[in-house]
Amino acid sequence: MAIEAWFMDESKEDQRLPHRRNPNEPVSLEHLAELGVLYWHLNPEDYENDEELKKIREARGYNYMDLLDLCPEKVANYEEKLRNFYTEHIHADEEIRYCLEGSGYFDVRDKDDRWIRIWIKGGDLIILPAGIYHRFTLDTSNYVKLMRLFLGEPVWTAYNRPQEDHPARKEYIKSLTEKVGMPLAAH
Ligand code: LAC
Ligand code: NI
Repeated sequence: MAIEAWFMDESKEDQRLPHRRNPNEPVSLEHLAELGVLYWHLNPEDYENDEELKKIREARGYNYMDLLDLCPEKVANYEEKLRNFYTEHIHADEEIRYCLEGSGYFDVRDKDDRWIRIWIKGGDLIILPAGIYHRFTLDTSNYVKLMRLFLGEPVWTAYNRPQEDHPARKEYIKSLTEKVGMPLAAH
């Protein structure tokens, strides 16, 4: 099963709730790909020997890997961490997360600045491009085990919005404009 994504409602209720609109407004993988968000579904039980994961890591140069277990019992300052993850930000590099167990939400902004909520579960690997505004939260299950991948020495620095002058943001906006501009230019 592919991941599910939808446009979020405006409610300020608990961030761990689904926040679907009524009626639900689903977002396709193609739409996510237009924003530069990439997705694979892999076998999370076999992550240590998975050839598919190995291939992705080799193709994209992801030499660094670590595991993150997030739940109130295992993380000091759980609530504070959650708040930080949920503060809208960008990174200078891709954010690559592979969900091994549990579940959570990655929210990304679309071209019109609307929030899209992406529900990741065991086996979902997603790549957020450098410069995309995003945030993360656990859902009501309050548990997720994530693999973090990185190309080179990991840098987890988050730059909170606004970041319109950040080189990664400018580069991202340029790549979006080029994608949208292409079919127009062909006419
Ligand atoms: C983050 C955590 C969830 O970077 O890995 O947002
Ligand atoms: Ni992030």
